[in-house]
Amino acid sequence: MALNKPTKCQGCPLYAAPGPVFSEGPKDADFIIIGQNPGPTEIQEGRPFVGSSGQILNRTLQRAGISRASSYVTNVVKCFTKPGTPVPPEAVRHCKKAFLDDEIKELKPKVVLTLGQEAFNILCSPKHLALVHVRKAAKKDPSYWLAGAPYHHPGGFVVVGAAHPAFVARTGFALLPKLQRQIEQAKQVLDHGAPTILDVTYNYNPSDKEVYDYVDYMLSQPAGGCDIETPYKTEEEDEVNIQETTRVSLI
Ligand code: URA
Repeated sequence: MALNKPTKCQGCPLYAAPGPVFSEGPKDADFIIIGQNPGPTEIQEGRPFVGSSGQILNRTLQRAGISRASSYVTNVVKCFTKPGTPVPPEAVRHCKKAFLDDEIKELKPKVVLTLGQEAFNILCSPKHLALVHVRKAAKKDPSYWLAGAPYHHPGGFVVVGAAHPAFVARTGFALLPKLQRQIEQAKQVLDHGAPTILDVTYNYNPSDKEVYDYVDYMLSQPAGGCDIETPYKTEEEDEVNIQETTRVSLI
């Protein structure tokens, strides 16, 4: 199987491994899905994400209203490695240069959904990753890779990170709702774009109108948030008069 690899594959440490399995989907898709590498079922069928991970992916995409048929589905590495083992970093580098970079350049996607750390890392290197805190947290708890916060890639597309479906399955599906939310986030970004300003701004004394306008604005965005801090009060929560107006600081 490995003997029919393209010449581009020469020099890759996975040259002797089963594969390659290339992408699937229209060449003018706005939406790219990038996984890690094909598993045994994908190798057998010659198509990405057709095994158990693919079933989870299909279900979450469908629930989010994303058509898999209109999406371009690919992997960072096109050849097989034993499930649950990390792919060799040289294979990641080799395959990116040989295939993935060109795939992204030719497709010019609007949104790229990365499934798992490998795909997220390859597009969002620490050098240009704004969401450093997410990366740090992820070292302790891999579910933070589900951050889903849209990241404006210098290549002109937005990356939304999500968990790998195989990882979700390994959690006994406890993280399935999180994966679902991240995929819905990607759909929001696809439909409405992502905010370009991730800066924190402070307004310690906003007018009521500024508060309402800002909250309205945040609700209309696919990502972001605001903290409303109220002055310290001595009343118990159940004694608070909800008709009363309280000054707030918007941070
Ligand atoms: N896991 C992946 O990362 N890609 C596939 O194609 C299948 C399983």
